[in-house]
Amino acid sequence: MKSSENVFYLLLVHAAFSLERVRWCTVSNQELSKCKDMSNAFAGAGILPPLECMEGESAANCTQMIKDYLADAVTLDGRWIYQAGKEHGLKPVVGEVYDQDIGTSYYAVAVVRKGSNITINSLKGVRSCHTGINRTAGWNVPVGYLVDSGRLPAMGCDLPKAVSDYFSASCVPGANSASYPTSLCQLCRGDSSGQSKCQGNSQEQYYGYSGAFRCLAEGAGEVAFVKHSTVPENTDGRSLSTWAQQLRSKDFQLLCRNGSTADVTEWRTCHLARVPARAVVVRPDTDGTAVFQLLNQGQQRFNGVGTQFQMFDSTAYGAHNLMFRDSTTELVAVTSQNYQAWLGDEYLHAMQALNCDPNTLPESLNWCVVSTEEIWKCGEMGTAFRNKGLKPEIQCISAKTKEECMEMIQKKEIDVVALGGADIYIAGKTYGLVPAAGVGFSAEDNNNAYYAVALVKRNPSDAFTINDLKGKKSCHTGLGRTAGWNIPIGMLIKKGFINPRDCNIPQAACLRLSRIITHQRSVNCVLEITAETTNAVQVAKNSITATVEPSGKNTESWARDLKSSDFQLLCRNGARAEVTQFARCHLAQVPAQAIMVHPDTNVFALYGLLDKAQDYFGNDSNRNGFKMFDSSAFQGKDLIFKDSAVKIVPVEEKRTYTEWLGSEYVESLEGMQTPQCSGAGNKLIQQHLLVITFVPFVVLGQIQGLG
Ligand SMILES: *[C@@H]1O[C@H](CO)[C@@H](O)[C@H](O)[C@H]1NC(C)=O
Ligand SMILES: *[C@@H]1O[C@H](CO)[C@@H](O)[C@H](O)[C@H]1NC(C)=O
Ligand SMILES: *[C@@H]1O[C@H](CO)[C@@H](O)[C@H](O)[C@H]1NC(C)=O
Ligand SMILES: *[C@@H]1O[C@H](CO)[C@@H](O)[C@H](O)[C@H]1NC(C)=O
Repeated sequence: MKSSENVFYLLLVHAAFSLERVRWCTVSNQELSKCKDMSNAFAGAGILPPLECMEGESAANCTQMIKDYLADAVTLDGRWIYQAGKEHGLKPVVGEVYDQDIGTSYYAVAVVRKGSNITINSLKGVRSCHTGINRTAGWNVPVGYLVDSGRLPAMGCDLPKAVSDYFSASCVPGANSASYPTSLCQLCRGDSSGQSKCQGNSQEQYYGYSGAFRCLAEGAGEVAFVKHSTVPENTDGRSLSTWAQQLRSKDFQLLCRNGSTADVTEWRTCHLARVPARAVVVRPDTDGTAVFQLLNQGQQRFNGVGTQFQMFDSTAYGAHNLMFRDSTTELVAVTSQNYQAWLGDEYLHAMQALNCDPNTLPESLNWCVVSTEEIWKCGEMGTAFRNKGLKPEIQCISAKTKEECMEMIQKKEIDVVALGGADIYIAGKTYGLVPAAGVGFSAEDNNNAYYAVALVKRNPSDAFTINDLKGKKSCHTGLGRTAGWNIPIGMLIKKGFINPRDCNIPQAACLRLSRIITHQRSVNCVLEITAETTNAVQVAKNSITATVEPSGKNTESWARDLKSSDFQLLCRNGARAEVTQFARCHLAQVPAQAIMVHPDTNVFALYGLLDKAQDYFGNDSNRNGFKMFDSSAFQGKDLIFKDSAVKIVPVEEKRTYTEWLGSEYVESLEGMQTPQCSGAGNKLIQQHLLVITFVPFVVLGQIQGLG
């Protein structure tokens, strides 16, 4: 007892005194001079622990030195905070504050002329103005945001090439070396005599915040990527420059992330990203509070009038922003001590996308396939992609089952597998995989999914709801099928209408239809039951083609005379709705196929590859032999991709398997996984037969003659 108390006491003492000194990493000689002065000033004021100054030469070098215990602290900007956090686990512990009003660095915005019809969704093909290559508001945030949101596909992670393909022409000062596409300098103007075109400094008249705005204001470009204060600072007579004197702020507007536009004063809600302030970062095992206390004592003594050394001033060293930004008014403790939280979602996601780096991409991606026919198709795909110079290359690896694929990806032995609904759930939940791209069904289908609905005959005298199904007869597309079985039964179990204890009750009449794997039979079943109970099946001209898989339309004789108005849908909330209202009255949206990968795999590189590939081998292009969404040449069906697929789509904000699947669908899957019921599906729900059919309801684009 006594000795363990001693150990505890010693640990406390160790923690309290573990910060014997703080070795500050400097990135330039001027910064080293300022650091030494700060060290002397702190020592003179009796501030402890002592501050030492190390030569690190660069931010990259400093983060490495801190990780290797050769230094302890450095101030970094957002981009480097991201790198240091992700690569070395360093954490931000003290943040800079510049302006009480904004509380952060600034907001990166996209500005257009008022009256232009440009939105964030129609930037492709417009002319763009940027502050400079690799600059935060002019390049890193907009490019990162456009890649992250799936608008800007980047094959091989070649971002300059992707940007050049995306905008029709640009001015990106500094992108003037031979390694950059020439269109990135096309709109630049050079100096007053036309020299120094596209230089990464103020000789280029379109360089920097005001330069990029001038590029827009003079009509060279149609959109400018700048910061929130750029328009106010250069309009309404606030700028003395001749080009800006006549400009009025109300002639410009901002592009919001959600596709709307807003007044230039609305940057707080309408921006591309909030750019985080710079912060001091340390190792995870360094006491961040102690570092803050050290700097806090310093700022109380050396910020403001009366002292020779000034923490937030660099003029004495002939430079700007040494150790801290000169505009810093105060340093604050970072309470979360977590780099993701400090950066914020908007900026973090932009940086993750910008991290798409050709140098860190693998030569090839190993794609998992599970049948001889799939190996065959995958091999052809790899060859076809390679012949078009697409990167990274595809290698095909075969496994016995999809689940074996998932396991190999989890172990990083292979990279990619294409999966459907329930498999996506297993891949995410059991193996930690994430979606990298989706496989969409039709151009009209914005959600890239179809709906599972509960269909009933319209009967004014018996308008039962989803909550009154007990004792009714039911029809299903097939046992174990997604829309016909898993979703409705899972939902009923989850809602408590089917008790898992009922699982081993023998099956009854209509349920036998569940073995017949066609949607048509399923609708027939509704008709038969209805005939029994109401003596009349109204069949008229229009057909319900909605009950077929996304690939086809129903022209079979049994369906030709059906009228959709004879049917209604049961909604989850207990309402009924017309069959045309499936988008808001459904059991669940059945998610599209997804290309699943390990979370460490660069999803933007994979999407960039597949997006480019479909230009050559998608449905709109059949001149190139291989077809991504067709398995007939390989004597198979739905090989790798569904044959009904029409395009590869970005995952956008659906970054995890649950976001991809949606909560309704996940709920149904969880219902089906109730222990007593799993494996006992065919014994389920004798007492719960319904006059109802559970079918996939494809979206409007595929429905003919409804209504
Ligand atoms: C820091 O950079 C210099 C070159 O600039 C290099 O020689 C040195 O090895 C680097 N140090 C670390 C720790 O990375
Ligand atoms: C915007 O307007 C131009 C003509 O002023 C037109 O060519 C273009 O298609 C429009 N774009 C959109 C997205 O409506
Ligand atoms: C911009 O950043 C990229 C990636 O870090 C780098 O390869 C490139 O050299 C930089 N360009 C300039 C002009 O500094
Ligand atoms: C889009 O975002 C802006 C700014 O946040 C907001 O004012 C507007 O209501 C939003 N519009 C839609 C359709 O969500």
